[in-house]
Amino acid sequence: MSDKIYDVPSEWAQKAYVDDAHYQSMYAASVNDPDAFWGEHGKRIDWFTPYTKVKNTSFDPGHVSIKWFEDGITNVAYNCVDRHVETRGDQVAIIWEGDSPDESRNITYRELSSEVNKLANVLRNRGVEKGDRVTIYLPMIPEAAFAMLACARLGAVHSIVFGGFSPDSLAGRVADCGSKCIITADEGLRGGRKVPLKANVDAAIAQIDGGVDHVIVVRRTGGKVDMLPGRDVYYDEATAMVTDECPAAHVHAEDPLFILYTSGSTGKPKGVLHTTGGYLVYASMTHQYIFDYHPGDIYWCTADVGWVTGHSYIVYGPLANGATTLMFEGIPNYPSVSRFWDVIDKHQVNIFYTAPTAIRSLMQAGEEPVKRTSRSSLRLLGSVGEPINPEAWEWYYRVVGEERCPIVDTWWQTETGGILITPLPGATKLKPGSATRPFFGVLPEVVDAEGKVLEGACEGNLVIADSWPGQMRTVYGDHERFEQTYFSTYPGKYFTGDGCRRDADGFYWITGRVDDVINVSGHRMGTAEVESALVAHPKVSEAAVVGFPHDIKGQGIYAYVTLMDGQEPTEELRKELVNWVRREIGPIASPDLIQFAPGLPKTRSGKIMRRILRKIAEDQFESLGDTSTLADPGVVEDLIHNRQNKR
Ligand code: PRX
Repeated sequence: MSDKIYDVPSEWAQKAYVDDAHYQSMYAASVNDPDAFWGEHGKRIDWFTPYTKVKNTSFDPGHVSIKWFEDGITNVAYNCVDRHVETRGDQVAIIWEGDSPDESRNITYRELSSEVNKLANVLRNRGVEKGDRVTIYLPMIPEAAFAMLACARLGAVHSIVFGGFSPDSLAGRVADCGSKCIITADEGLRGGRKVPLKANVDAAIAQIDGGVDHVIVVRRTGGKVDMLPGRDVYYDEATAMVTDECPAAHVHAEDPLFILYTSGSTGKPKGVLHTTGGYLVYASMTHQYIFDYHPGDIYWCTADVGWVTGHSYIVYGPLANGATTLMFEGIPNYPSVSRFWDVIDKHQVNIFYTAPTAIRSLMQAGEEPVKRTSRSSLRLLGSVGEPINPEAWEWYYRVVGEERCPIVDTWWQTETGGILITPLPGATKLKPGSATRPFFGVLPEVVDAEGKVLEGACEGNLVIADSWPGQMRTVYGDHERFEQTYFSTYPGKYFTGDGCRRDADGFYWITGRVDDVINVSGHRMGTAEVESALVAHPKVSEAAVVGFPHDIKGQGIYAYVTLMDGQEPTEELRKELVNWVRREIGPIASPDLIQFAPGLPKTRSGKIMRRILRKIAEDQFESLGDTSTLADPGVVEDLIHNRQNKR
C-alpha cells in the first residue's frame, strides 16, 4: 500500500480526450442509459447493416444471455484494415521488431490489406468457412496478425495457443474447438533460442482423433521440419498462388470472433468465446481513451498475441483505430537489459504498455541500463496482468517515465475482452498500486462472502453488476459451465474471481485472485492443472499446488507432492517432476518449489485443506487458522519442518 497521490498534470487535462469533469459526465451517462451511450459509441466502427438494437443482456441465473448490437452486420477485418486503406494506406500499421535488434519491418495499411486478403484466400481455398475454427500457434511475427485478420475476414473463429504451450496443451485446445486447420511456423525465436513449433504441432496432431486437415507453416528460421504432403503447406508458397482480393464476409454482431483458452479453478482450461460487434467497439474505444491514442502516435504493447492483451491491445483495438502498433518478437533482456528502452528509441514509441513482472525484473538490473537510453518520445506508460506493487510503480514512473508520463494501471481479464478498471490519463489522479476507477459502462461492486453489497470504503470480492459490450458470451460448447463459473457465486452478477478494496475516494485496489487461480509472471495458471499434470506421473500419488509470493514473478508455483509407496524423494526426482510438468503443460507452468510430503493436511472427510498449504508456502506459520478439523494434525508439523526455501 502507498498513500501517495499524483495529480493529473494540467497539460494532460487540457490535451487528453477527457478531463475529470468530462469523465464524470460520460461515466454517469454510460451507466444511466447504456442503450443511448453505446448506441452512440457503437458507431465508431463501420457497419454494413446498422444495428437498431443496442443492449440485450441478462445475468439472471439459468438465463444468462449477452447480446450487443445484435441486428447489426459488420466485419472486423474490414474495420481494422479496409476502411483505413483509403484514408491512410501508406501509414505504417504494424512495426515489427524481431528478436534480434538487426531485424525489423514496417507494414503499411495497404500492405496489411494485401497480406490479409491473400491469407484469407489460402484459407478459403482449403475449405475454411464462416464459423469454422482455425488454431493459430505462431511466434510474435506479423503473420500472427495477418492470420487473425484473415480468419476475421472470412468470419472464421480463431483460437490462438501461446507458443510456450506444450504439444499436449495444444492438442487439448485443438480438439476442444474441433479446428481442422492450424497456422504455425517452422520454429519460433526468443532471446536467440529456437522453439520447435512445427514439431510440437506434429506431436499434438498425433494425439487428436481424426487429426487435422491443413497445416500452414510460416518459414521463420528456415529450420528443417517434416512436411506431410497434402496436409502441410508453406505459407509463402500458398500465398504466392492466390490474389490479394478476398471479399469480407458479412458477419452478425453476435457471431463469434475468437476463442481463447484460459485457466480456471478446475483442471481443464475454458474456451472463452468473444463475438464480433461489441468486442470491437469496446476494444477500440478503451484503446483510444485509456491510452489517449491520437493519430500519428506510435504505440507499443509488449504482450504476446497468445494472451488476451495481445488480441485486444496489439491487434484489434489499435488497428480498428487506424493506429501504428508495434509488435515485438523478443524478450526484455536480450541481447541486453536495455532492450525495451532501445526499441522505444529506435521506433520513437510514445505509448508503452507492459506487465509488472517485466518491470520488476528490469528493476533488478538497476537504473543505468535505462538511463543510458533517451526515452524522450515516451508520453504514457501502462501496466497490466497482475497487481503492481508500489515500489515497481514508483520505479516505472521515476526511472522509465522520468516523472513526466502518467501510468495507467489497467485491470481486466480474458473474460472481459477489454479494460474495465483504469485511470484515464487526463482525468484520473494516480495512486501507485490502484487501478483507480471504472471505465465507461462498467459497474463494479464489492461484496462480502454472502454476497452483501458493501458501501463506501470496504474490502471484499469484486463483481460487476451489469454487462459491457466486450464481455465474453459463453464458454465454447458449454454454456452451463459459463453460468456456473461466473454467475452462480453471486447470482445476478458477474464474479471476477478477484479480491478488491475500495478506498474513501471510490478508487479500486485489486488484491489478487480469491479462487484457485494463481498469477505467475502475469500468466494465469490453474493450480488444478498443475496438480493433474503431477499426479499423471507414475511415481506420484497425490499433489497439491498453491501460490507463494515471488519477488519477480508476483507469484511462484509451490507443489506439495506425495510419492507412491516405496519411491525415494530424491533431488533427481524433483528435477524430473519439474521437467514433467513443463512437458505436460509448458514452461510457464514449471513448479518453482516442490516439497515431498509424506501426507497432506486433510479434513476427516478427506478434503485437502489448501488454506493451510497456502499459509505454509507463504511462511505464515503462526496464522494457520483453525486446524481442529484436521484428520491428522501431525502432518502440518512435518510440512512446516520441511518447508522448501525460496531460491
Ligand atoms: O487477477 C487479475 C489479474 O489478472 C487476472 C486476469 O488474467 P488474464 O485473464 O490472464 O488476463 C490478464 C490480462 C488482462 C485478473 O483476474 N490482473 C490483470 N490486470 C491486473 C490484475 N490484477 C491487478 N491489477 C491489474 N492491473
